[in-house]
Amino acid sequence: MTPRDFGVLWAMKLRKGVILAGGMGTRLAPLTQVTNKHLLPIYDKPMILYPIEKMVEAGIEEILLVTGGEFAGDFLKFLGNGMSWGIKRLHYTYQEGHGGIAEALSLARDFSAEEPMIVILGDNIFSAALLPYIKKYEEIGTGAMILLKQVKDAHRFGVACVQGKNIIKIVEKPAKPESNLAVTGIYFYDKRVFEIIDGLSPSARNEFEITDVNNTYIRWAQMRWAKLPGWWTDAGTFESLHRATELVRKVRTRSIPPKKPNGNA
Ligand code: DAU
Repeated sequence: MTPRDFGVLWAMKLRKGVILAGGMGTRLAPLTQVTNKHLLPIYDKPMILYPIEKMVEAGIEEILLVTGGEFAGDFLKFLGNGMSWGIKRLHYTYQEGHGGIAEALSLARDFSAEEPMIVILGDNIFSAALLPYIKKYEEIGTGAMILLKQVKDAHRFGVACVQGKNIIKIVEKPAKPESNLAVTGIYFYDKRVFEIIDGLSPSARNEFEITDVNNTYIRWAQMRWAKLPGWWTDAGTFESLHRATELVRKVRTRSIPPKKPNGNA
């Protein structure tokens, strides 16, 4: 029996965050022949500090960093035990190969210990604070939640097809996107995410896709979404790495007022 079974007000607290920083970073070669993609500079800081800071400022106490490749040791040199960056407990794990985002996330099973988690792709850089979305997810308590962003180049991302307040499906990198709503690399999952990953098959590009995970939650009618305000970019190509640097540089010199979230969450 849980407190909820007795009809007692029961508040779930999201304490755990996972940052995915594996993969090959081939689109950024030769820079990624020197270090891991997520340690490359964005304006005045290595890329990995951006998702870390977002989690820390939102009160996430425990972070798992999933990395891989030949420069994984560089993270330890830079982040150490994480305390200098405000992390209460930092854990590391290593992804052999680069079997996709869902495969990297599968390595968080023991870390999550059946608790819900926020997951951020290590190359996603954005201006909005995460706390309002963490609170929304805590209110819902189960299932998944994703954050969407209107973009001009939707074909580069997972693209959400939304009808009214519901997401109907997500299509990964469609040649002809049905909407301009990109799925950002900021996800909230409950413990069933690992059950879903266990049942996945590799995609045509031979990766275990996070989009397949999200589509399962959609089929279960367990997917919430919200629009991410402010600016958002990935930083996995030369163009987007440069854009990320420009956006951060602008923020250093002016402040952008936060917008209210909208969506169905
Ligand atoms: O940026 C948002 C997009 O990220 C989403 O819209 C897409 O649905 C999602 O598939 C993803 O697309 P990308 O093709 O841009 O993902 P990429 O392969 O660049 O990987 C993004 C991050 O995920 C990367 O910085 C590190 C992590 N990753 C990736 C792979 C393939 C891993 O940790 N392990 C991996 O094996």
